[in-house]
Amino acid sequence: DGEASVFVQDAAAPRRPEAERQAALRDPGFGRVFTDHMATLRYTPDRGWHDGRIEAAAPLSLHPAAMALQYAQLVFEGMKAYGLPDGGAALFRPAENARRMQRSAARMGIEPVPEALFLEGVRSLVRADRDWIPRQEGASLYLRPFLMGTDPSFAVRPGRDYMFCVIASPAAPIFGSTTKPLTLWISDTLTRAAPGGTGAAKCAGSYGASLQAVAEAGREGCDQAIFLDAVERRWIEELGGMNIMFVFADGSLRTPPLGGTILPGVTRDSLLILARDMGLTVREEPYAIDQWQEDARSGRLTEAFACGTAAVVAPVGQVRGRRHEFAIGGGQAGQVTERLRTALIEIQRGRAPDPHGWVDRL
Ligand code: COI
Repeated sequence: DGEASVFVQDAAAPRRPEAERQAALRDPGFGRVFTDHMATLRYTPDRGWHDGRIEAAAPLSLHPAAMALQYAQLVFEGMKAYGLPDGGAALFRPAENARRMQRSAARMGIEPVPEALFLEGVRSLVRADRDWIPRQEGASLYLRPFLMGTDPSFAVRPGRDYMFCVIASPAAPIFGSTTKPLTLWISDTLTRAAPGGTGAAKCAGSYGASLQAVAEAGREGCDQAIFLDAVERRWIEELGGMNIMFVFADGSLRTPPLGGTILPGVTRDSLLILARDMGLTVREEPYAIDQWQEDARSGRLTEAFACGTAAVVAPVGQVRGRRHEFAIGGGQAGQVTERLRTALIEIQRGRAPDPHGWVDRL
């Protein structure tokens, strides 16, 4: 567009050797390899947002008393750049991530990044690292914008100075490219969010608080933990870093409602819209863990799946806990899950019409 970017690119930033990049793109895993560049932008009360750069991805210099380190004053986003059939690339509903980061920032007393600057930072980074977008089926470039308090202080009050940063990592879905159904562990002692807390904010602390339960799930031989509500330990909320949905024999789809303790996923929202497009009855209603077991056993419930930017859509085959054990749909990936997964992926990769205007070409 001819206008100078707020994010000035350092042309001298070193690039990884071609062979190293190709090897990383062939087998990216999830969040293991990082691209050559990062976007950075600073905030101080006197200058506002300034000093935008696209520079070499490298360790940050941060005062050890920075608010982000001492009091977890840090929020982040997860989004992806997808390769398109014509060789171009696109983001998926990026303004949703920009707005969610503003809401997360408000909850954590952080200065929000204006939507236009968020989007420009993300787009500038993807342009600089476009050779890092994997082109094979299932893989994409995972983008991690984050925003944190950088001023040194032990005072327990919002910080003054902030840094917005975007880093990128070529990625396969977090559970791998196969759709082998997941086994979930019910966390009935540890919770991740409470009413009035930070569960709906994408803040570092919400994820840190999930890790003990995720580790427990791993020790139990399970892929992920299911969190229940903190008040009654009865209602299903979400998993450690992704939402959950249920499919019933009567053709309806259900997911826990957003009520302040559940992360408002962009993938969650997109799948609810696609499900309605397909004619499914969609209910955002609480679902009790005991009811889930009963419905799975009776056959009233036929499918369940995890969903998120990193997870995409991953079927659930088994559920275990101290008081529960049941299989879903004979442990096989279900048809509705597969239809929704395919519908979403085909739009994201520019292979299907985009009736909702979600695809944002770079
Ligand atoms: C995502 O799906 O993008 C997430 O943020 C989940 C997790 C990797 C933190």
